[in-house]
Amino acid sequence: MKNIFFKDKKVFITGAASGIGKATAVAMGALGCRLFLTDINEQGLLKTAAEIQEKGGKVCAAEAFDVSDYPMMKHFASDVQERHGAMDILVNVAGIALFSQIEDMKHGDWERVINVNLWGVIHALECFVPEMIRARRGGHIVNVSSTAGLIGLPWHAAYAASKHAVVGLSEVLRMI
Ligand SMILES: NC(=O)c1ccc[n+]([C@@H]2O[C@H](COP(=O)([O-])OP(=O)(O)OC[C@H]3O[C@@H](n4cnc5c(N)ncnc54)[C@H](O)[C@@H]3O)[C@@H](O)[C@H]2O)c1
Repeated sequence: MKNIFFKDKKVFITGAASGIGKATAVAMGALGCRLFLTDINEQGLLKTAAEIQEKGGKVCAAEAFDVSDYPMMKHFASDVQERHGAMDILVNVAGIALFSQIEDMKHGDWERVINVNLWGVIHALECFVPEMIRARRGGHIVNVSSTAGLIGLPWHAAYAASKHAVVGLSEVLRMI
């Protein structure tokens, strides 16, 4: 299926090696988007890219890195924006879950969940949105949160904190 709105749109997707991120990448590839994909799982990412290309989809970049690593995000974003210009659509999917009683959680558990689920989203926004605004073509940002970003659930303290923050951040972005 080809769609006039999506055809040739430049789309950055995190978490593209599996689950929702992979399904989104495959679907947007089938709609004719030009894809810029990442995930921390290099093997899975390359498999997604190969699957999309086998079906005729356009993968302009597929590079593995940790979204919580700001210099890596910045390097990737600068490189692709220099070669391809501003993105049209950002899809922040990469995330990790942690279900634990608060008294069992280590400091590193809190840090890891917040770094990936919240800072990972912030890094993508910091590195891609200013260029999208400068390009003045409009655009779309999809930040994947969770039910745990809307209501508190048992054993979800760090996950809920990160996902509530993503909802708040996304509500503010509706105003730009
Ligand atoms: N599956 C669900 O039921 C569900 C429910 C609510 C919200 N979510 C959210 O949806 C998103 C995707 O979940 P999913 O179910 O597809 O999970 P998934 O584990 O299949 O996919 C997540 C992807 O993110 C990648 N990833 C993890 N840490 C990363 C990092 N530091 N840098 C780059 N990539 C990283 C993983 O390698 C993986 O490919 C997550 O943000 C999750 O919190 C999922």
